[in-house]
Amino acid sequence: MSEDPRHISSHSLISGVCETVTAHDVHLWIAGLDLDAEDVGRLWRLLTEEERHRALLFRFPLHRNRFVAARGLLRRILARYVEQSPEAIRLTIGPNGKPEIACPYPCAIHFNVSHCEAFAAYAIANTRRIGIDIERIRTLQDSVGISRQFFAPEEQVELAAMPHEQKEQGFFACWTRKEAYLKACGLGFSVELDTFAILAAATPRLTRVDWEPDDIGRWTFATFAPCDNYTGTVVVEGTNWTLTQRLWPDHAF
Ligand SMILES: CC(C)(COP(=O)(O)OP(=O)(O)OC[C@H]1O[C@@H](n2cnc3c(N)ncnc32)[C@H](O)[C@@H]1OP(=O)(O)O)[C@@H](O)C(=O)NCCC(=O)NCCS
Repeated sequence: MSEDPRHISSHSLISGVCETVTAHDVHLWIAGLDLDAEDVGRLWRLLTEEERHRALLFRFPLHRNRFVAARGLLRRILARYVEQSPEAIRLTIGPNGKPEIACPYPCAIHFNVSHCEAFAAYAIANTRRIGIDIERIRTLQDSVGISRQFFAPEEQVELAAMPHEQKEQGFFACWTRKEAYLKACGLGFSVELDTFAILAAATPRLTRVDWEPDDIGRWTFATFAPCDNYTGTVVVEGTNWTLTQRLWPDHAF
């Protein structure tokens, strides 16, 4: 087992139904969300009444179907770890919206989800809090102005020092680090984004957290590319874990 949390091994297809994630593993699943109607229909049947209600609030079928796909696949993926049927898994929602697996299932399994357009990324850990964020790397009209608005001063300095051709990647990498950390803590955007700093340096690391100084050193970060032109970050509590990246198989809806 690698001691380096940034080590990512990749498998193109997982065909087994049961998965085990040890306390030193983090599993990352990447899935496409633009499925055909039959697959969306299958995943719809796994959702709770509340999730179906949420789906029906989307105005456009594209967004509704992506929500159904993302939540249905979450249920399918979690079912492999908790050995429950996907539709039987109960999720609770934390004070700022973070979903967790509810008791009496094995609550040692922690997860977090991020979706961006046609892709979703699911991070699974055992006895460690976890957060994930993915973003599509795109051109920003005013990346300096946006950085000033959302990033801590020390993050802005790091970004400003990057070569021009790396700035877009650098901006979105920084964004995913911040959002993944807030999601790992379960805070979401309930705190000001300049009250903490995460620098890329050689290895991404928390350098300042105004509201929780002890968090420095408590979290480890891994950067990954879910697909072309996307960047993502996983944040996991503690050290000494290995990230394994998997694609959700096409035939398993
Ligand atoms: C959590 C949050 C940061 C996600 O932002 P996003 O870029 O839209 O979405 P992502 O795709 O990366 O993540 C969404 C998923 O994160 C999870 N999630 C939701 N709230 C979360 C929280 N507080 N912590 C961790 N994960 C959370 C859910 O699984 C959600 O998926 P779902 O919408 O299918 O249920 C943002 O929605 C948030 O802060 N929500 C909390 C409410 C809030 O403070 N709102 C003010 C907005 S300015």
